[in-house]
Amino acid sequence: MQYLTVPLGQHRLPPLPYSYHALEPVVSGKLLEIHHSQHHKAYVEGLNKAELKMAEARGKRDYSLVKHWEREIAFHGSGHILHSIYWTSMAPIGNRWETPGTQIHNLMANYFGSFLAFQEQFSEAAINVEGSGWAALVWQPGWGRLEILAIEKHQNFFQVGGIPLLVMDVWEHAYYLDYLSKRKEYVRSWWQIVNWAAVEKRLNLALVGQMPLVIN
Ligand SMILES: [Fe+2]
Repeated sequence: MQYLTVPLGQHRLPPLPYSYHALEPVVSGKLLEIHHSQHHKAYVEGLNKAELKMAEARGKRDYSLVKHWEREIAFHGSGHILHSIYWTSMAPIGNRWETPGTQIHNLMANYFGSFLAFQEQFSEAAINVEGSGWAALVWQPGWGRLEILAIEKHQNFFQVGGIPLLVMDVWEHAYYLDYLSKRKEYVRSWWQIVNWAAVEKRLNLALVGQMPLVIN
């Protein structure tokens, strides 16, 4: 079986699939530029550093800082993965599906009862994340069904094995510049820019165990 490998310490910041101003007025160009070019970049750099430091320690068989570097790999690694999926979860007008595809819609109806019930639970999960974190719709291959997660930071309360299909960043850096402390307003506005075509595509890939960071 063929698979892609990212060499140790060589993760790269993926380019946005649209311009920094493309998601306005829901997300301003200034916010998106800072979020992508500074925050996401920092996670990529933190992950690369942690992997290389861990490799160096492994070479010396010095595991005195193993807890620290494994935590860094979990934090920055999850931050890099979630942001990469977040960018493709959104798209500008005219370049996205405005409503869920048939397959994801049917799975939502089976598990949550309806699309509106899914949307309500996802929104509430996002609004109620304590501090910084994410709401995520994942495909849980172990159980063959969808699940919603309210992830704290990038890695706490993540269910092992879940493959993210749709993620919403509710760190303050994702909305504060535009919405100040009104996270609820950001959450409600955000549904306008969800690209359901990407969710359907990610579902089809998740069903065969794949989770690419960049999708076309
Ligand atoms: Fe973020």
